[in-house]
Amino acid sequence: MKQIKSNIDTSGSRFKDRVEIYAELMSFYHTMMKSATQRDEDPAMVRHRFRGKLDARSRIELLIDEHTPFLELSVLAANGQYGDQFPSAGIITGIGKIHGKMSMIIANDATVKGGTYISETVKKHLRGQEIALQNHLPCVYLVDSGGIFLPEQSRIFPDQNGFGHIFYNQAQMSAAGFPQLSIVMGSCTAGGAYVPAMSDETIIVKNQGTIFIGGPPLVKAATGEEITAEELGGAFVHTKISGVADHLAENELDAIKICRNIFESIPEPEKQPYEQHSIEEPSFDPYEIYGLAPVDFRKPIDIYEIIARIVDGSKFEEFKRNYGETIVTGYSRILGFTVGIIANNGFLTSEASLKAAHFIEICNFRKIPLLFLQNISGFIVGKKYEHEGIARNGAKLIHAVATAVVPKITVIIGGSFGAGNYAMAGRAYNPSFLFMWPNSKIGVMGGQQAQQVLNSIKGEDLNNNSDLINQFEEESSAYYSTSRLWDDGIIDPADTRKVVGLAISICLNHKIPEPRNGIYRM
Ligand code: COA
Repeated sequence: MKQIKSNIDTSGSRFKDRVEIYAELMSFYHTMMKSATQRDEDPAMVRHRFRGKLDARSRIELLIDEHTPFLELSVLAANGQYGDQFPSAGIITGIGKIHGKMSMIIANDATVKGGTYISETVKKHLRGQEIALQNHLPCVYLVDSGGIFLPEQSRIFPDQNGFGHIFYNQAQMSAAGFPQLSIVMGSCTAGGAYVPAMSDETIIVKNQGTIFIGGPPLVKAATGEEITAEELGGAFVHTKISGVADHLAENELDAIKICRNIFESIPEPEKQPYEQHSIEEPSFDPYEIYGLAPVDFRKPIDIYEIIARIVDGSKFEEFKRNYGETIVTGYSRILGFTVGIIANNGFLTSEASLKAAHFIEICNFRKIPLLFLQNISGFIVGKKYEHEGIARNGAKLIHAVATAVVPKITVIIGGSFGAGNYAMAGRAYNPSFLFMWPNSKIGVMGGQQAQQVLNSIKGEDLNNNSDLINQFEEESSAYYSTSRLWDDGIIDPADTRKVVGLAISICLNHKIPEPRNGIYRM
């Protein structure tokens, strides 16, 4: 593979100014991440620890193999909503190795409103299960939750992808043959009782874990019976009398040990055979991305400079370099895994769409995972392009993206606007993982354009309608997106190669199916 040459003067004032602007974005990002993950002073956390309980992230750290990474998803879910009372939406999800087996871990955070579920908690839980299903991962639930957050019940309880879908998924995952284990480390109430009850095996912690369909207050109200939580559904009851749980743990550490021991007997899944070449660091510093990332979308960027700071050895073998130049396609490696890269370099034209669709077909047939680097303002518009059949050619790309059977990892590195979002494997195209950079923005169009469109429809001048522009500005921010689980998390651009490499290794946990195509309109 050829090495990308860099033309950037990293000592020049232009580059330094851009780095300075990005430093502010990173400082905000770190503040947000800290407020969600470092909550030692939070009274609920203090009380939780005083009770001798480990926090959810520490439990996960002890569960996974020592010195191995954990790819935590959607850390900033629910951020900026509900008066910021639900850090990480009260649930930690991610992928790590347990006894060498790649596993999904879904852990309630009891220090966030008793681990109860708002709509983002449900969405995050379901997304974790979806990733487990797609990649044939065993799943461990660390349960410590009061069930539905009652004031929000109408948004959580009844709909198709509501709370009940968690248990539906458990049945589907089980039927598909993927192991699921629960460790009950606290409360497990009402519908929540079905998480351990529907797992293959359940471990419950003595004097701490409880499982019941109706807790003591409900029992008293319904039947008049007065009973303690422990007597109603504690560890002894469920391992000795009801049989709802299978393993009695002395404490949390013992429970984690039992779970790890069970993993020793879980069979290895049939993985996709895929060579991992030796890992080469990029020839250019990934931190230099701060000076290269698109912050002002009106100014063009050099996508090759960004690719050079993500891929192994900065090596990239380009496909169709001189055709449809507004999209860049080619082969590279990330953490030793071969990938096909599709990166925007301007508007999507007919040629760019055809080129990208062709490249996706090649990778699909060769079973090479795809990495989409999204920085797209949309498909090109105008009479010339419509007459050329941009809709027909764009449709080929959308077909290819939608039906690709190889892992698709999408990173939104800049703008993600209009149908360009779809053609570049946006969330609706089921990418295996989708991450955003802190500078990125997502929306049907920019605020100014929306205002112009409305001006022309309504035939009036809304130029002073700053409300609309502000609304678009707020709703297109990466933080707005990640809070609502439109992505799997905002990442530090300098970590892109690590995150993408890890994501690919997760996706190779199962065999890639044979490719299939729909009908492309020619
Ligand atoms: N809905 C709304 N809020 C809830 C809640 C629920 N289901 N369960 C707990 N909370 C809130 C509490 O009001 C409290 O809020 P605050 O911090 O604003 O005061 C916070 O979560 C912590 O609850 P608390 O009871 O103080 O914590 P705890 O650690 O001692 O107990 C539970 C946690 C979950 C065991 C306990 O709150 C409980 O039993 N909740 C009811 C569970 C239930 O019946 N759920 C049925 C719904 S399906």
